[in-house]
Amino acid sequence: MKDPRRPIGVFDSGVGGLTVLSALRRALPQEDFFYFGDTARVPYGSKPLSMVRRFAWEIAGFLLRQGVKAIVVACNTASSAALPDLAEDLSVPVFGVLEPVAKAARGYGKVGLIGTQATVESRAYERYVEVSWAKACPLFVPLVEEGLWDDPVALLVARHYLEDAPQDLEALILGCTHYPFLKGTLARVLPGVRLLDSAEATAEEVARTLRREGLLNPEGQGRVVHLVTGDPESYRNLAERLGVKVEELKQVSLEEL
Ligand code: DGL
Repeated sequence: MKDPRRPIGVFDSGVGGLTVLSALRRALPQEDFFYFGDTARVPYGSKPLSMVRRFAWEIAGFLLRQGVKAIVVACNTASSAALPDLAEDLSVPVFGVLEPVAKAARGYGKVGLIGTQATVESRAYERYVEVSWAKACPLFVPLVEEGLWDDPVALLVARHYLEDAPQDLEALILGCTHYPFLKGTLARVLPGVRLLDSAEATAEEVARTLRREGLLNPEGQGRVVHLVTGDPESYRNLAERLGVKVEELKQVSLEEL
């Protein structure tokens, strides 16, 4: 049954999807959300795609049991692993984060991509946009999860990964939802390169579809319930340092998935 008053489910391996959640809340202030961070199993990017696919199905199933009306896979690795199958098989609209940002990248000349190892190796972005240069940056997610996005160590790591980026790169897709937190650092290493992330483009796509499907919530309060598989207090501290106020927070055990 279509009920527009139900919440939207958003998930990621950790805090990265909060970049997408924030854009969703700006675009859709009347919607309520479940934000699921699989913090017990982060990072996804160094795991086999088949395993990440299983995680994505488990979390989507769990969110459906909570009664969500749509699911946003706010993780490039899970989107690369589980879409389009998840969208085809579930009874609610399912959104990934690759296609919206890839579409935005099409207007640029030479486009680069950085992402997790699993995302880069899956070549999933190449379905939507021509990528001239791609690099896996496996240390970026742990740097963000450890709260080091502004630390000099982040700058050193970014220089290491980006030193072989082509000089004439026009745009760089941040193909991981954790990476927008590193934008300041990345801009220092690649001045003049347009940094593109999925958050706004995905939120616009979700808003358009919900409107078209008659699924916009007429009376939501902008409530967000955060659900995490790892330690809740560490999650709260990190999310709040990233500028996200966590009012409702629950731990979900892996057995419940
Ligand atoms: N934020 C996720 C992504 O967009 C997951 C990163 C990870 O857990 O390795 O790929």
